[in-house]
Amino acid sequence: MAEEKTIAFDVESIREQFPTLSQQVYGKDLVYLDNGATSQKPKVVIDAIGHYYTLENSNIHRGVHFLSQQATEHYEHARKVIQQYINAPLEEEVLFTSGTTAGINLVAFSYGELLSEGDEIIISAMEHHSNIVPWQILCERKGCILKVIPMNEHGELMMDAYSNLLSHRTKLVAVTHISNTLGTINPVKEITRMAHEQGAVVLIDGAQSIQHMTVDVQELDCDFYAFSGHKVFGPTGVGILYGKKAILDKMPPYQGGGDMIEKVTFEKTTYNGLPHKFEAGTPNISGGIGLGVAFEFLSGLDMDEVEHYEKELATYAEKELLKLDGMRLIGTAKEKTSVVSFIVEGLHPFDIGTLLDKQGIAVRTGHHCTQPVMDFFKIPGTVRASFAFYNTMAEVDILVKGVERSINMLR
Ligand code: ALA
Repeated sequence: MAEEKTIAFDVESIREQFPTLSQQVYGKDLVYLDNGATSQKPKVVIDAIGHYYTLENSNIHRGVHFLSQQATEHYEHARKVIQQYINAPLEEEVLFTSGTTAGINLVAFSYGELLSEGDEIIISAMEHHSNIVPWQILCERKGCILKVIPMNEHGELMMDAYSNLLSHRTKLVAVTHISNTLGTINPVKEITRMAHEQGAVVLIDGAQSIQHMTVDVQELDCDFYAFSGHKVFGPTGVGILYGKKAILDKMPPYQGGGDMIEKVTFEKTTYNGLPHKFEAGTPNISGGIGLGVAFEFLSGLDMDEVEHYEKELATYAEKELLKLDGMRLIGTAKEKTSVVSFIVEGLHPFDIGTLLDKQGIAVRTGHHCTQPVMDFFKIPGTVRASFAFYNTMAEVDILVKGVERSINMLR
């Protein structure tokens, strides 16, 4: 199958930079295909975290002393790197959070304060629970109404239905850029344009997209873009919420505490400017620094090549898996990438996942925090292989053989 490999970048030299990838589990070479859950980390990121705790550990934005100033400089440098990477106009539009979930909850709580009873929020049928539940909580709190863009049997959003849901009552649209379960790439630029025509703001859940393609928030023109560090080759417990300054300025703080204030008295407190207004308390300093290094690492790659290569991996995996008896792909959108979800007739996804694990192949099984997607397809869950740029065609072959072996053992 070597002729399938048409990549322009050197996967082997990329793999060498990710120490976890070169180990064995159960005596077999690890085949890590659970990148939708979390990505592996390049050595530069691991070293940056170690360096911070070994030589720089101190709090930021607070100390006059050398270590604190150095850590502050590195943390703020990370913000700048990420600002440039996503092409945000201003540094203060880049907020550190603890991850995508925290970013969405921040908007749901804080922007939600500006909404009133009867205002409408639109999400889509393929959202992760973290882009459903915060809006349900907001709707309960403020009496807003949640509407859902339906999808077709391929796992594509029905744009006509979306157009019909939009009205002057729509205040916010929150959609995922790429579905974590189906791999569908949603037309978020068009979704944003249509929402803006009605005066609604748009939040894009970028948890599954920024690691797979070029993301330019100005080009998308979205109002918010949220993602997690750990899925983009950085540390866990850190993430980013991009928001347009004009909107963030109108929003009340989400949490109160140190760093987010300008002046505190018992009578009245005034708040710090952006981004600090939304960054109460000591943050994940090593995480922020590590995330900056992850983006420096990514800056050294051609993301168009990455996108092309990952699409080839997924397309090849789908083609080979479909040769197996009883195979059904879940998520067959025209525009999709990096995720291959499947079920095999008569077999439970968990059993296949467990047998794959014993062969050294890491995949995720279950509902992938998208229970409504499972309900739509009337299935209990899927087996999901999710790719990153360090995966190889040879690993796809191992996956396909592993699934075939599992099917034979279970039948
Ligand atoms: N949201 C992550 C996933 O899709 C955890 O696996």
